Amino acid sequence: MSSNEPSSWLLLVVVVLLLSATLCRADPEPVQDFCVAAPHGSGGPAFPGLPCKPSSSVVSDDFFFAAHARGASTDNAMGSGVTPGNVEAFPGLNTLGVSINRVDLAPGGVNPLHSHPRAAELVHVVVGEMLVGFVSTEGRFYSKVVREGESFVIPRGLMHFQYNVGKSAARAMTVFNSQLPGVVFAAQALFGAEPEIPDAVLAKSFQVDAEIIKLIKSKNRKG
Ligand code: GLV
Ligand code: MN
Repeated sequence: MSSNEPSSWLLLVVVVLLLSATLCRADPEPVQDFCVAAPHGSGGPAFPGLPCKPSSSVVSDDFFFAAHARGASTDNAMGSGVTPGNVEAFPGLNTLGVSINRVDLAPGGVNPLHSHPRAAELVHVVVGEMLVGFVSTEGRFYSKVVREGESFVIPRGLMHFQYNVGKSAARAMTVFNSQLPGVVFAAQALFGAEPEIPDAVLAKSFQVDAEIIKLIKSKNRKG
């Protein structure tokens, strides 16, 4: 069969489509019903995800997570608290390709600008109202005031935030199509990296004096 034949082209198109569908998915597909993550340092090798507990020792509680019944403290500079529900906190999620956080915001509080390299995020507001926004790769800002019972979606990898614009506390549950979405906080990544990004690089990048960079760095030091 010559490569000019229509069937060769069809085959090529199918392969390219299958490949792009695979690459566009978040986590890989599971290869078994479940694979409850074994405590660190135990269990056998597994792909995808973390090593599994032997299924004979899996119990109903492995599929249960109670940490979202309470919120994290919002008594901090941002006025926000996030309680993660990813595979590290909830081992039953291993290989299932989903996770969930609880976000609590005091009035005026912000879950500061960040992105998730491995997942899209669905923000569902449970209490109060918040401005939710993200910036696209074209530099366009999309946002909406989202109220109780409403949702907003953040495409994978894009910089976003939630900001409580109401007069009382607000809460959202955020759902991800990855067991471990990863998080990059903009200010910490740029101004709190270890070792430090040189002041000269940041000053040039932001077109400001090095003094301003030093000031922002002082607010983003760990510990
Ligand atoms: C909110 O943006 C979250 O990452 O939970
Ligand atoms: Mn997020």
